[in-house]
Amino acid sequence: MKHFLSISDIPDFSKAIDHAIDLKKNPLAHSKTGKGKKIAMVFFNPSLRTRCSTQIAAENLGLNTFILDVGAQTWPIEFSMSTTMDGKSSEHIKEAAMVLSTYFDLIAIRSFPTLKDKKRDLSEFVLNRFQQCASVPIINMESATRHPLQSFADAMCIKETRIDKPKVVLSWAPHPKAIPHSVPNSFVQMCKAVNYDLVITNPPGYDLNPEITSGFQVVHQQEKAFEKADIVYAKNWSSFDDYGQVLNHHPNWIIDQNKMDLTNNAKFMHCLPVRRNVVVTDDVLDSKNTLIQQQVNNRIFSAQYVIKSILTHVSFH
Ligand code: CP
Repeated sequence: MKHFLSISDIPDFSKAIDHAIDLKKNPLAHSKTGKGKKIAMVFFNPSLRTRCSTQIAAENLGLNTFILDVGAQTWPIEFSMSTTMDGKSSEHIKEAAMVLSTYFDLIAIRSFPTLKDKKRDLSEFVLNRFQQCASVPIINMESATRHPLQSFADAMCIKETRIDKPKVVLSWAPHPKAIPHSVPNSFVQMCKAVNYDLVITNPPGYDLNPEITSGFQVVHQQEKAFEKADIVYAKNWSSFDDYGQVLNHHPNWIIDQNKMDLTNNAKFMHCLPVRRNVVVTDDVLDSKNTLIQQQVNNRIFSAQYVIKSILTHVSFH
């Protein structure tokens, strides 16, 4: 059984980036690979990019795709293993995973963290329950702590800039709501896998999980971190230590042109959705240095690489 739960499920990640970039030249070159196969894309949370790009990727490979919004189009699912189901949940994960494994060849899951129960989130409770109870491969479409399809697409973008040994800066940016750690976590894991020179900058109190950031510099002065940057990746995240809390909105951490002027004419990246003039100013987001459209497009091909690799049993552990 092969799953795609994190970047570390791809043994030679640098080679995978090149392969995924290659897929862009002829997206339909492998349109028979998934003929007769079906993928269920199961969403516990909203999505625009992941929903569309994963469906396009699967259809490029010839699969039939089914999108399921849990609780809206399906029954609410119970995940506890020993429980009396006299509450809101109508269906247990054991049956739900069995049903999906009977009908589908692949199951892709999006399930955000609670941002309240740290232990449960760090255990990847929902993703792991699906893995335990399903008998077909599971693909992570953003889980409690990781978003590997996004960071894979981001890695493709950085490679495509052709900047030699780029200085990459991951910058916290303001947001009115509490946001998960999945995107920054996976971005850091990706930079580790590719051996990028990464600096993380965030206000005090917003340090990410030290088990993930170990070995990287964390700077609490944003403008200092931006000096000589080639890539600026903006993202908000809630506190990890004061788990899931928004401690202070720090509006002065917005990414604006004055800060971008401190860099080495850096490219700007954000996974989207983005709140204009809260996270980043219009002029930066609309500048010629923005890579957001390339990131969006690459989401198709990171997913296509993953689905193709699972179906053909290559390039995975
Ligand atoms: N970046 C990303 O995953 O976007 P969606 O939440 O719209 O899928």
